[in-house]
Amino acid sequence: MKKITVIGAGNVGATAAQRIAEKHLAEQVVLLDIVDGVPQGKGLDMWESAPVEGFDSAVIGTNDYKDTEGSDIIVITAGLARKPGMTRDDLLFKNAEIVKGCTENSVKYSPNSIIVVVSNPLDVMAYVAMKASGFEKNRVIGMAGVLDTARFRLFIAQELKVSVRDVQALVLGGHGDSMVPMVRYTTVAGIPISELMSAARIEELVNRARNGGIEIVNYLKTGSAFYAPSSSAVEMVESIARNGNRILPCAAYLEGEYGLNDVYVGVPVKLGSNGIEEVLQLNLTEHELAELHKSANEVTSNIKKLNL
Ligand code: LAC
Repeated sequence: MKKITVIGAGNVGATAAQRIAEKHLAEQVVLLDIVDGVPQGKGLDMWESAPVEGFDSAVIGTNDYKDTEGSDIIVITAGLARKPGMTRDDLLFKNAEIVKGCTENSVKYSPNSIIVVVSNPLDVMAYVAMKASGFEKNRVIGMAGVLDTARFRLFIAQELKVSVRDVQALVLGGHGDSMVPMVRYTTVAGIPISELMSAARIEELVNRARNGGIEIVNYLKTGSAFYAPSSSAVEMVESIARNGNRILPCAAYLEGEYGLNDVYVGVPVKLGSNGIEEVLQLNLTEHELAELHKSANEVTSNIKKLNL
């Protein structure tokens, strides 16, 4: 892959750029931010780690969208981060404006790119980016489920004292507060989690994962999580860049799948060089489907507030 651009040189963006470079997912990694000097400084510093880390990707920091020209993938992380006491929805209006601007500027120079949205509130921002880009739905994808499941998988691994590698999980629905954990699809080396843990304990871990973002915000006080969010975004980028066909829970634009329409919400998708190659449709129970619809309705009501 030739070029991957990360918009926003804050903690999530800079760490994502670093992971992309260290995995050598593109010849050129561009880090763009509106603050003068920050992307240039972080980009050069990152590039100077190349001889030690052994990667050959060039890392370029810039304030100018012209430098992003011809990107294959654009990762949008720009926006305000949550402070303690703030919900993701508090960010809605401000970040919608920011994400719209970043998307419009990006697609001008990279009309054939695939966009991965990381800014919050995630599902709504993915919708904003799709509308602002004019791209087909498979080329605009939101990062959320990978992060929510990573948290859930870690907590399960900690509890059972097993390797995180053996824990598989799936969540549907919106990011964080309204996520719908699919406990019956959660396994340890293929063993259903219900055979290894009590229902009450599973519920506690689900709630911890649901509030995983807030738990970090409360520690950091002046910012929100970035190591796990950047890892999660880059796992998606890697599957697209390497045509990996990974099955990952991502926010996707739905047109009829799961009985939902004109909304972005977390579902399992196959990610390859065309972005979303397929939305996997599961046979949900009535209860699961109702939870997914409830979560999607929250996203829809926020989309409506924006009057796009
Ligand atoms: C989180 C924020 C970034 O879940 O949404 O940590």
